[in-house]
Amino acid sequence: MLLLLLFLLAAGEAAAAAAATTLTATPAKLTQSDREITIRWSGLPDPDGLDYVGIYSPPTSSDRDFLGYLFLNGSATWRTGAGELTLPRLPNLRAPYQFRLFRWPAREYSYHHIDHDGNPLPHGRHRVAASGEVAFDSPSRPDQVHLSFADGVDEMRVMFVCGDGGRRVVRYGPAKEEGEGWKEVAAEVRTYEQKHMCDSPANSSVGWRDPGFVFDGLMKGLEPGRRYFYKVNHLPLL
Ligand SMILES: *[C@@H]1O[C@H](CO)[C@@H](O)[C@H](O)[C@H]1NC(C)=O
Ligand SMILES: *[C@@H]1O[C@H](CO)[C@@H](O)[C@H](O)[C@H]1NC(C)=O
Repeated sequence: MLLLLLFLLAAGEAAAAAAATTLTATPAKLTQSDREITIRWSGLPDPDGLDYVGIYSPPTSSDRDFLGYLFLNGSATWRTGAGELTLPRLPNLRAPYQFRLFRWPAREYSYHHIDHDGNPLPHGRHRVAASGEVAFDSPSRPDQVHLSFADGVDEMRVMFVCGDGGRRVVRYGPAKEEGEGWKEVAAEVRTYEQKHMCDSPANSSVGWRDPGFVFDGLMKGLEPGRRYFYKVNHLPLL
């Protein structure tokens, strides 16, 4: 009951300020080559030194469960109640990000828990605005490609991660362009879910991340001392 009441209070407060304060995060879709996110806010009344933007994923996370935060004073114009911050490259967590703007009145600072700069850790109260979602485009695209040795001297393993478990292949050959001498192997796929974790809190806590689908392709029949090229693919095969 108390929790509910607090929530309602917080919601009421947020609604009052939200009318004036806006927060946007662009672009809404991140691509492989462009992952820089720009966060802009305006109309924040009485800005305070430690007002901040919290980073969330998935967007259903509660206000307490931020992944990181940026103090608004990172923007030269923060005292005007408006500004802009950029985030260079957030990892693909296979869930959209959302950004939320919080006020943090000085009387509520607590130095019980501090971050690595010695600043108090945000508590996630007093949300005044939330951005739209920022997602990664083409979740089916292979990511995190790794090459490693395998058991046989004429084998090497290629592993990568995709957002779905559909069929993927590894192609490899002796020339840069696909053609003569190129071979193809189907990649095996595995994943795991939170319920597969053996104990609490791993099998129940909010920190769980969808690992995606892990693909494993074994290139065989490689000639020692020869240079090879390889590709991983997410196109359906005929
Ligand atoms: C912003 O405020 C924090 C906390 O007071 C401080 O550690 C940080 O250096 C400030 N950053 C800038 C750019 O002024
Ligand atoms: C987590 O694992 C423990 C130990 O196996 C088990 O007792 C508990 O029920 C599990 N919790 C969930 C939510 O699966």
